[in-house]
Amino acid sequence: MQTKKKNRILVVEDEADQRDIVEQIITDAGYSVVTAEDAESALKLQQLQPVDLVFSDWKLPGMDGLQLLEKLRELYPELAFVMATGHGSIDHAISAIRAGADDYLSKPYKRQTLLFTLEKVCQSKHLKSENKQLRKALTEQSNLVDMVGRAPSMQKMFRKIEKLAVTNATVLISGESGTGKELAARALHKLSKRSEKPFIAVNCAAIPETLADAEFFGAEKGAYTGADRLKIGKFEASDNGTIFLDEIGELPLLLQAKLLRLLQEGTLTRLGSNEEKKINIRVIAASNRNLEEEIKVGQFREDLYFRLNVVPLVMPPLRERTEDIPALVNHFANSAATNHGVTRPEFPKDVMHILLNNYWSGNVRELGNIVERLVLFAEDCIVSVKDVPVLTAAKTLTDGQFQLPLEGFSWEAHERDCLNQALELTENNRAQAARLLDLSYKAFLYRLEKHGL
Ligand SMILES: Nc1ncnc2c1ncn2[C@@H]1O[C@H](COP(=O)(O)OP(=O)(O)OP(=O)(O)O)[C@@H](O)[C@H]1O
Ligand SMILES: [Mg+2]
Repeated sequence: MQTKKKNRILVVEDEADQRDIVEQIITDAGYSVVTAEDAESALKLQQLQPVDLVFSDWKLPGMDGLQLLEKLRELYPELAFVMATGHGSIDHAISAIRAGADDYLSKPYKRQTLLFTLEKVCQSKHLKSENKQLRKALTEQSNLVDMVGRAPSMQKMFRKIEKLAVTNATVLISGESGTGKELAARALHKLSKRSEKPFIAVNCAAIPETLADAEFFGAEKGAYTGADRLKIGKFEASDNGTIFLDEIGELPLLLQAKLLRLLQEGTLTRLGSNEEKKINIRVIAASNRNLEEEIKVGQFREDLYFRLNVVPLVMPPLRERTEDIPALVNHFANSAATNHGVTRPEFPKDVMHILLNNYWSGNVRELGNIVERLVLFAEDCIVSVKDVPVLTAAKTLTDGQFQLPLEGFSWEAHERDCLNQALELTENNRAQAARLLDLSYKAFLYRLEKHGL
């Protein structure tokens, strides 16, 4: 019965007496009702004050009920529609259902039948939209929390995320590009008590320095030239929820000081205002730059760093957890196939071999992009080696045939990895390791020092 009160019904009927009777019956049953005497005014009404269900007579002057139905279906695919058809005209009923009517009533109908039909259609529409919302929420949720990772380092990370999610601790997530920093931040929010409140992700690198103050802290109308209305800042918008400050290393120094104050005092002041507002936010920050280096060169405040780094979360690069690659390939292949409506192809051994031995400077994001491409290029449901782009496999690096991948890669990370591998292979014999990399001993030591190895 609850659905009745909420539902608005538009009755389209050209005969005034009939229209009044129907209006009375439906109003008495608790619906809110609007009426129209022809299809044209019904369309106008729906545009001005949308209803949940249209109950229309077939026979109308000008555009008939079927044409009205077709027009409405085009404009409002979710709108419920019930057609009243003339006595014995079963053909009309069939045409109406074919054109997308939810039900029909053949005239004359009883009061009870009318109410029963309307109630049934409203309820079924209501259930359908509820299901749709639930399905949407489910897919969103699985996108958020569904992080693939079997490697011990990832398992440890998941446990840490679960533990941290129930706290309000400030978390600083670090890791190379594409390792899943944002995904981890979303998981922290999604698993927290704040999950129903906003999660606001801000890329600090994408906000021009001149606008940053107003963007983050908000501004009163007239606070600066061009501020023609009140602006709510990102922090205020995240009140009671979580703010994710991505690429925090790019935040201008002046704002770093303001952010520190906000973290310490839990208050903010909009630009052009004297009033301090109390806010309750959880801050998660991420950086793929080494913030300690930034502190050394005076680009990042040390006090802010300690304040943010209450709990550090380090995302391991993909090349250090190659055991996750098969599961990730599977995960990305399935979602690419679903998204593009194609059959999920098979990844033969030779292709997997290349994927497993790649350097993955772009980490999980790069793997995801390549798998998506391979799914789209696959012929006869099988991925072919020829479609695998030139990747930065360790083997290609030593044979003098190295080709820079089109998407580029991180030179520093690569250098560090080469040094580490050379040391590992030679059991820390530095002279041998230097020879292995075709470097002079001095050049080798210089690089070790540069990377703090
Ligand atoms: N463990 C994982 N399981 C499944 N998908 C993942 C995982 N890690 C990352 N991804 C996917 O890889 C892509 C990149 O992840 P994300 O944006 O979180 O990385 P990032 O570390 O924030 O990258 P950047 O530093 O470039 O901003 C996203 O599409 C994300 O869904
Ligand atoms: Mg990111």
